[in-house]
This record gives sequence, C-alpha cells and structure tokens, in this order.
Amino acid sequence: MINVSRHPLVREKLTRLRDTTTPPPEFRRLVHEIATLVLYEATADLALEDRKVDTPLAPWTGSRLREKVGLVPVLRAGIGMVEAALSLMPEAQVWHIGLFRDERTLRPIEYYNKLPTEATVQVCLVLDPMLATGGSAVATIDVLEKWGAKRIKYVGLIAAPEGVKALSDAHPDVPIHVAALDDRLNEKGYIVPGLGDAGDRQFGTG
Ligand code: PRP
Ligand code: URA
Repeated sequence: MINVSRHPLVREKLTRLRDTTTPPPEFRRLVHEIATLVLYEATADLALEDRKVDTPLAPWTGSRLREKVGLVPVLRAGIGMVEAALSLMPEAQVWHIGLFRDERTLRPIEYYNKLPTEATVQVCLVLDPMLATGGSAVATIDVLEKWGAKRIKYVGLIAAPEGVKALSDAHPDVPIHVAALDDRLNEKGYIVPGLGDAGDRQFGTG
C-alpha cells in the first residue's frame, strides 16, 4: 500500500525542497516540515486506550497511545526527520541504523546498528527521505523483522516506482507513506526529478 500525500502545503514545500537554489539551512527546515505533515498522515491509525484526567472543571476520559512507537532513522539522511517525529511523539524511542549505498552496485552496506537484542516497541516508523532502488529500505526492514518488530511503516519524502515495487514485493505488509511519487531512476540510481542527494543537501557535503 502506498500513500502519497495530496496536501497542498506538502506540494508547495516539496517544490522548494527540490529547487537547486535552496541552501542547506532552508533544506533542513523543509525536510522537518514535510516530514511532520507526512507523519501526521502516516500515524492516523495508531491505536489508542483510555486515559482519565481531571480538567479544572470535571473528570474526563481521554486517550493515550496504546502501543510503544520506535523511530528508526536510516543514517545519514533520515536524521533530518527525527525531530519532526519526536515533536509529534515525544515518548518514542529512537533506534538508529546506518546504511550507505555502494555507488557502483547500488547495494546497501550496513555500518551501524544500535538495536537491542529484543524488540522494545510495537510499532516501528522507518524514517528515510529517499526510496530509490529500495535496497536500503528493504535491508532496514529485514533487520527490524529479525529483531521482532511486529508492525512497521516506511515514512519518506520522495519515492521512485522502482523502490516502491522492490519494497512492496519484499515486505507487502509495510505501508509506504511519502510526499511524492516521482517518475523514475536515472542510470546512477538517483530519483528523477527528485532532489539530488538528500544527505549531501541537508548537511552541506555535496
Ligand atoms: C540515500 C537515502 C537512502 C538511500 C536510498 O542514502 O537516504 O538511505 O540513499 O537509496 P536506495 O533506495 O537505492 O537504497 P545514501 O546511501 O546516499 O547515504 P547517506 O544518507 O549517508 O548520504
Ligand atoms: N539517495 C538520494 O539521496 N537521492 C536519490 O535520488 C537516490 C538515493
């Protein structure tokens, strides 16, 4: 299942994000803002349980999240989405996974994994702006499933059809939430039109 945001604010912000003239400080702000909006949509089905509180006027039975949420940013580019997720879910745990794509084979290489031996959360939100070949997302979700994660969602900014197919084939139960579905990959595995290298543009390393 893929959900592509149709929100006008997402589309307007994404246009500025794609723009080559957008410098890293504004790029990071936009990643944060778009991630907030996509996460709002991606978390619409989180389960609730009752929580009783007293307002100044009366007792009130409200709600709290029933399940523990884990945020799994894929280094480096996923880091830019973490603060957005934490401002919506301050109690969420953050588990980092480090992967980079081998430039020649485009296969993901894992270099960092701080997951404890057993799963400590019920819902995992994988945070990575770019779903290109899908190799990084599939590898991350393989790791999470081995870890024992039961419910996983992928939350990104821009996807290519090739990445959506690879992720849906490998993990059909993982819903994909993105701000845009672009046209294709180029011969170097970059998303077209895309935004270039999401890590380099956030951190000024291009
Ligand atoms: C980017 C991006 C994804 C990956 C997507 O990371 O953040 O993790 O590429 O490509 P894929 O779908 O073909 O696997 P990159 O490997 O450039 O590492 P970085 O975030 O450290 O720059
Ligand atoms: N990673 C990026 O940062 N951008 C792309 O277009 C593809 C992979």
